[in-house]
Amino acid sequence: MPPAGSLTADQLSFFDANGYLVLESFSSAEEVRAMRDRMAELLAGFDGANSSVFSTKDHQHLKDDYFFKSAENISFFFEEKAFGDDGTLKQPKELSINKVGHALHELDPVFKGFSFSESVASLFSSLGYKRPAVMQSMYIFKQPGIGGEVVPHQDSTFLYTEPPTCTGLWLALEDATINNGCLWAIPGSHKNGLKRRMIRDENGTHFDRPSPSYDIKEFVPLEVKSGALVVIHGDLIHQSFENLSPASRHALSLHVVDTEGCEWSKENWIQRKTAPEPLYAA
Ligand code: FE2
Repeated sequence: MPPAGSLTADQLSFFDANGYLVLESFSSAEEVRAMRDRMAELLAGFDGANSSVFSTKDHQHLKDDYFFKSAENISFFFEEKAFGDDGTLKQPKELSINKVGHALHELDPVFKGFSFSESVASLFSSLGYKRPAVMQSMYIFKQPGIGGEVVPHQDSTFLYTEPPTCTGLWLALEDATINNGCLWAIPGSHKNGLKRRMIRDENGTHFDRPSPSYDIKEFVPLEVKSGALVVIHGDLIHQSFENLSPASRHALSLHVVDTEGCEWSKENWIQRKTAPEPLYAA
């Protein structure tokens, strides 16, 4: 039997044609539970809600600095609608965090275990990666009632290599539905090239050109069960809507690039002090 995570010819041709692929039951219920429990522990230990980094509308340089350093840290980011006008949280912190990132895969044993699992390595081997490395990991909460929308984008905009090699993995840690903010994607849109890049410079970050507009009718919903993995081509146009439902929609996202045969852009927001450890070296 091929190792778990390796893709069949049919799965590879679906991915080539559509730019995404859903792998049901990629993670077991135990593995999902372990990640959710671990995140609950990390949240319980987080005590930064009163920091001016989060609770003020200005202090942009503090926010940029916190964001940039998160590339090699476990950092907490709030939902935009988490704070009231007085700068205090409107609901408990557990229901106010948008995401935690971006180095869970390096610094936390539970998330490292998943990220460096044989299943994930086999998947990238199937996709032809020579020396894949996770560049960022995010635990995304999509909180009930306030879980913010993620506007249409391509992941290579944020994680650019020359030539482009970014692939996103999106692991559902709860059932994701149209109601609680599942992913939506334009099938085949990865064939139309990268539309823009996010550039880091001394003033922070900016996009090199405006986003094209997309017709909502082109998107298909990717409703998946907890434990399913969605593989996302770096050039696929995808988005998710606000979660106005009473159910959260937790997910773990990893972004992987090849570190052989391509170059990590010096203009990317992630500029590491140490080279990332590859999943394997072919
Ligand atoms: Fe994305």
